[in-house]
Amino acid sequence: MAKKIDISQFGKSLGPGSGIIELMDDLGKAMAKGDMLMMGGGNPAIIPQVVDVFRERMRALIDTPDFARMIGVYDPRQGNEQVLQALAGLLQRHFHWDIDARNLAVTGGGQTAFFLLFNLLAGKHGTQHRRILFPLAPEYIGYANQGLTEDMLIAVPPIVEHDDEGFFKYRIDFDRLEIDDSIAALCVSRPTNPTGNVLTDGEMRRLADLADAHDIPLVIDNAYGAPFPNIIFEEVNPLWDRHTILTMSLSKLGLPGTRTAFLAGPPAIIDAVSSANCVVTLANNNVGQYLVRDLFNDGSILRLCQETIQPYYRSRALQAVAWVREAFGDTPVEIHRPEGALFLWLRFPDLPIPSSQLYERLKARRVIVVPGHYFFFGLEERHPHEHQCIRMTYSQDPAIVQEGIGILADEVRAIYAESS
Ligand SMILES: Cc1ncc(COP(=O)(O)O)c(C=O)c1O
Repeated sequence: MAKKIDISQFGKSLGPGSGIIELMDDLGKAMAKGDMLMMGGGNPAIIPQVVDVFRERMRALIDTPDFARMIGVYDPRQGNEQVLQALAGLLQRHFHWDIDARNLAVTGGGQTAFFLLFNLLAGKHGTQHRRILFPLAPEYIGYANQGLTEDMLIAVPPIVEHDDEGFFKYRIDFDRLEIDDSIAALCVSRPTNPTGNVLTDGEMRRLADLADAHDIPLVIDNAYGAPFPNIIFEEVNPLWDRHTILTMSLSKLGLPGTRTAFLAGPPAIIDAVSSANCVVTLANNNVGQYLVRDLFNDGSILRLCQETIQPYYRSRALQAVAWVREAFGDTPVEIHRPEGALFLWLRFPDLPIPSSQLYERLKARRVIVVPGHYFFFGLEERHPHEHQCIRMTYSQDPAIVQEGIGILADEVRAIYAESS
């Protein structure tokens, strides 16, 4: 009889049973039934003008010697030298950053970059266990299971502010941000998944000063940030200094299928990440790199983001907010100020059931959202918003989003009514 397969600790920490895998499996099963209103995932919109740009680029590539290189060559572990030069040039010209190709590496999407980074920076260091500190919970669900040692990821609960336009906004509680020598790095996503928050320049400066004072990296997940895809609706400046590690992904630009991200940081980090990446995957996918190389060189990537991608998501965000307000009427709902990314973060104050049950009830009515508690990992104490919030994605077909919001409002109204 075959011996029972015994999965290692490494396998268990990455395997079934973790929140994200359960959720992804559940979403997958629900979607397989068809006819679902998908407002759950992080898929970017398929924007026809953007698809046209990349279709053209692909056609042009096919007729050049680059095509054979793109499909037929293992590039060096850091990535394609021409593409890294092109990106360094773009960042120098556009942001005046002191950066060159030695500060850049390619990984298979931001997800891989974070897995490698967290485990390279934190975990066991001799007798010490070091951790990654997220200064502002809630944070991106995809980080939650990436630490290979227990309790590697810790987070600080937010300050909640309300503005006079009826939105709330999470702010970093700097009084609770304790950095001792167990902290290996700080990490934020900006704009933030799940909330659509954009940390202010002031908050970023304070984080950078803290990183500097403690001589630790400040990791900035720029999946939705500038220069690409630039899904930011506020006037803010990107940050780069000697402690910054920045990830820039091609996914939300419209190329998630190419699995390509760029990491910018000190050469020692670049070397460590690209070595680990080489051990795990040997070399990167070349397709995304070739598709964007000339757009980096001539700067047209900036125009594409500024003139097409950003306005597209801005108007989708405004539309989603209007639909939520209309559908909910006087049923209690609070919306996090949508400042970027592709989500609305909704809070139902005094919801008599946890949002995980709301998720189940919505799923039974064909609507898929993500319940809030998945994004509150790493906290020492529970936060009331954990079970009162959901994330909904507004990037998919507008008709689906509008119908989904209508059902959501109807279900929340019914839940409040049942308890009154
Ligand atoms: C904040 C954030 N970081 C990283 C990722 C990972 O994206 P990718 O691996 O496609 O670059 C995502 C995907 O949704 C995200 O929202």
